[in-house]
Amino acid sequence: MGAFMNVASARAIVLAAGKGTRMKSARPKVLHELCGRPMLWWVLEALRATGVDEIIVVTNSELDPLLEPFGVRTVVQAEQLGTGHAVRIALESIEPRGGFVVVAYGDMPLVDRAIFEDVQAAVDAGEGTPLALVTARMPLPSAFGRIVRTPSPGGEHAIVERIVEAKDCTPAQLGIDEMNAGIYAFGEGALREVIARVGNDNAQGEYYLTDTVELLIAAGQRVVAVPVADYRSVLGVNDRVELAEARAILNRRLCEQHMRAGVTIVDPATTYLVPGLVIGADTTILPGTTIAGATRIGARCRIGPHSRLDGAMLADDVTVTESVVVDSMLGERVWLGPFAHVRGGAELGADVRIGNFVEVKKSDLAEGVKANHLAYIGDSTVGPRSNIGAGTITANFDGVKKNRTEIGADVKIGSNNTLVAPVTIGDNVVTGAGTVVIRDAEPGDKLVGNPARSIAKKTTDT
Ligand code: UD1
Ligand code: MG
Repeated sequence: MGAFMNVASARAIVLAAGKGTRMKSARPKVLHELCGRPMLWWVLEALRATGVDEIIVVTNSELDPLLEPFGVRTVVQAEQLGTGHAVRIALESIEPRGGFVVVAYGDMPLVDRAIFEDVQAAVDAGEGTPLALVTARMPLPSAFGRIVRTPSPGGEHAIVERIVEAKDCTPAQLGIDEMNAGIYAFGEGALREVIARVGNDNAQGEYYLTDTVELLIAAGQRVVAVPVADYRSVLGVNDRVELAEARAILNRRLCEQHMRAGVTIVDPATTYLVPGLVIGADTTILPGTTIAGATRIGARCRIGPHSRLDGAMLADDVTVTESVVVDSMLGERVWLGPFAHVRGGAELGADVRIGNFVEVKKSDLAEGVKANHLAYIGDSTVGPRSNIGAGTITANFDGVKKNRTEIGADVKIGSNNTLVAPVTIGDNVVTGAGTVVIRDAEPGDKLVGNPARSIAKKTTDT
C-alpha cells in the first residue's frame, strides 16, 4: 500500500547543472545522444514510466533554454555549489505538497524504471524511513561515494550509517566496494528540513546531498539501501568513451525487446535501433543496419545488410538490401536494392522492384512498377506494371521549380531516356533507347529519338 500511495504523488528532481567538461564539447553533456535520444531523455523516460508526474531539472544558464522540448520545469543553478545546493534550490522553486521526491542525476541514461520503482517503494516517511537510496557493488578503484555501514549487534544486516565521498575517504573506506549510485527517494517534508542543515566542510568545499544520510540518522530516522543487481545500469557518462559504452548497452536492450517479440536480429552489435520502432514478427534484420525515426516494419520482411531506414513504413514481406529508405512507404513484397535510395515521401505499391543505383524521390509508384538499374524518378506518378529502363532520368527541375512527370499503366520506357517534366505519358506507351520526351505522349504511342517523335501507326481504339 505504501508503494501505491507513493506513486500517486511522486515528483522528481534531476540534477544536470554540471558543466560536463570531460565531453570536450560545445553541446551540454546531457544533450549528447544515445540511440537517437538525448542522454537526459532516457532518465526522464524511466522516471515518467514509474508514475512521476512532475520533474524539475536543475540546469545551468547554457542548458536551460535548450530544455523546452522536454516538457519539464527547470531551475537555473547559477553557481555549482554541490548536489545538496542543487536540490535545495529545486525545492525552493516548488510548492510543498507532501508525498515524496525522487532525486537522480541527468547523466545516467542506463537507469531503468525498475530501479526507480524499487527505490520509491522502499521509502516510507510516515514509518520513520524518509530516505531510500540505491547502492551498487562495483569493482575498485572507483570515484563513487562509499556506503559506510554499522554492523548491527543482533547479527542482522549491517545498517547504513553515512556516505563518504571518494575524495573524503580514509584509505580503509576506499576499500569499501558498495557505492552510492546517486538515486534517492526522500519524504518531501524530511528532505526540506534536512537539506537546510547540510554544510560544505569537506574536501571539495561543496554542499553534498549525501550528507543528508548522516543528518537524518542523527535525528533518529532510518535510511534504507536498495541494492541494484548490475552496477553497470547506474554508471554515469562523463566522456565520449563512456557515451559509446552506454549507447551499446541501450542498443542491446532495444534489440532484445524486438528479438523477444519475434524479430531475428543476426548481429545486435551492428544493428542500430531507436526507441519506439514497430517491427513485425519473423522479420530478419541483417548486420550493418540502422533503423531510425518513427519507422514501422511489417511481418516477414528482410532488412539489410548495410541498410538505413529512417521514417519508413514497410508493409509485410518487404526486402531492403544494401539500401536507404527515408520518409517513404513501401507496399507488400516490395524489393529494394542493392544500392537503392528511396526518399522524400515516396510511396511504392505492392510488388514494386527498385534495383541497383536507382533513386526515387517524392514519387508514387503503383503496384508492379520496375526500375532495376541506374535511374532517377523524382516528382513522378507511375501507373501499374510500368517499366523504367536502365539509365532513365525524370528531368524534374527546370532551374527554377520542380515539375511533375505522369506515367500511365503498362508503359515501357527504354534505356537511357530523359523525360523532361512537366510531361504526361499515356498508358501502354513504348519508348526506344535514348528517347528524350519533351511533349505529352498519347496512350499507345511509340516514341524514339531526341526530341521524341512518334513511329506508331495510330489505330482508333474503341
Ligand atoms: C555524486 C555523489 C556520489 C555518487 C555519485 C554517483 C554527491 C555529493 N556525491 O558524486 O556519492 O557516488 O554521484 O554518480 O552527491 N550537479 C548539479 N549541481 C551541482 C553539482 C552537481 O546539478 O552543484 C549535478 C551534476 O551535473 C551531475 C550530478 O549533479 O549530473 C552529480 O554531480 P557530480 O559532481 O558529478 O557528483 P559526483 O562526484 O559524481
Ligand atoms: Mg559524477
